[in-house]
Amino acid sequence: MSSRRSANIRWIVVAIGVLSLGIAWAAAPRSEPRQPPSQSVAAVAPAAVHHPVQLHLPAGLGTIDSGLRNVTGEPIGIACSNCHALHAEPPFIQKTTDLKRFHKDLRLVHGELQCGACHDPTDRDKLRLADERRIPMQDVVQLCGQCHGPQLRDWKHGAHGGMSGHWDLTKGGRVRNACVDCHDPHQPKYPTYAPVQKPRDRFLQSPHGEAPGHDAVPHAAPAPRAPTKAEAPR
Ligand code: HEC
Ligand code: HEC
Ligand code: HEC
Ligand code: HEC
Repeated sequence: MSSRRSANIRWIVVAIGVLSLGIAWAAAPRSEPRQPPSQSVAAVAPAAVHHPVQLHLPAGLGTIDSGLRNVTGEPIGIACSNCHALHAEPPFIQKTTDLKRFHKDLRLVHGELQCGACHDPTDRDKLRLADERRIPMQDVVQLCGQCHGPQLRDWKHGAHGGMSGHWDLTKGGRVRNACVDCHDPHQPKYPTYAPVQKPRDRFLQSPHGEAPGHDAVPHAAPAPRAPTKAEAPR
């Protein structure tokens, strides 16, 4: 018992020692200043220009496709408020099974969510966050991100959602994809694909044992195998 207590005291003494060393280090004057002198680098190198990061959004976001095209061949979309402003139509339908007059082919397979989780009940041109704030359709990433924090974090870091352009914004701009560029908000699950055999490259493995062209040199040499009857020299 007493030996354990003395061991405890020893640990406390060690801990205090380490702590005070740390404090002394933090308080000690530095030989090097922490901040570079104010008129150093900026005077030599011109300030770097940062190109913009743009958000790509699907064409016709927040409109219903009329099936018609304008003179330049672009699809003509109908704004939601064209119909929804006409009739304030309570009750606000929440389930796809209640859609009897319009949007009848819409399927909602997104957890247990209902229309009101994302659409504003008073202004159908807008989306609505969980705290009832109304946001424009263009801010859809904010809507998805409020429930999908890890994906939003990854998206911000560039690990989810892809991009094109430059990492180094001093060299050029960058375009990010919005969540709805890839995910249908109503059925967001990404389709799965069955893995298939890789394509067989007829230039890499010549049935006649000829050397492949230099463009076709494989990165990893295939394991040597015994020649088949057809390949064996006659
Ligand atoms: C051509 C008219 C028309 C357009 C355009 C239209 N809607 Fe609707 N919408 C309706 C009707 C009618 C209903 C009621 C459905 C029913 O009763 O079957 C409805 C229902 C809905 C509902 C269910 C909640 C409710 O209001 O009862 C949502 C959400 C909705 N629409 C969103 C939109 C959005 C978003 C757009 C634009 C992208 C849009 N609608 C464009 C006619 C329209
Ligand atoms: C998870 C959020 C979310 C839920 C839940 C949701 N929507 Fe949407 N909806 C969106 C977003 C975001 C858009 C705009 C993006 C787009 O057009 O692809 C949209 C677009 C639409 C559109 C226009 C484009 C289209 O797909 O026809 C209609 C109509 C619509 N929603 C109706 C509904 C109805 C009706 C419900 C409920 C049965 C519902 N939505 C539930 C997020 C949601
Ligand atoms: C109000 C909260 C909420 C909002 C807003 C929301 N989601 Fe979801 N999302 C969910 C829930 C709940 C699930 C189901 C999780 C489960 O079943 O494990 C889900 C599932 C998903 C999945 C996985 C689907 C699957 O079946 O594996 C994707 C992808 C997704 N959401 C994308 C989006 C996108 C894109 C948006 C914006 C248009 C969005 N979500 C908006 C709550 C939300
Ligand atoms: C470039 C296309 C693309 C964009 C943009 C994108 N995603 Fe995804 N997302 C995917 C793919 C592909 C998967 C499926 C990955 C898998 O199955 O491993 C996925 C998976 C998901 C899942 C399901 C994760 C799981 O483990 O089941 C969620 C949730 C999700 N994305 C949310 C979002 C949100 C929120 C945004 C916007 C901030 C977004 N995604 C933007 C392509 C995209």
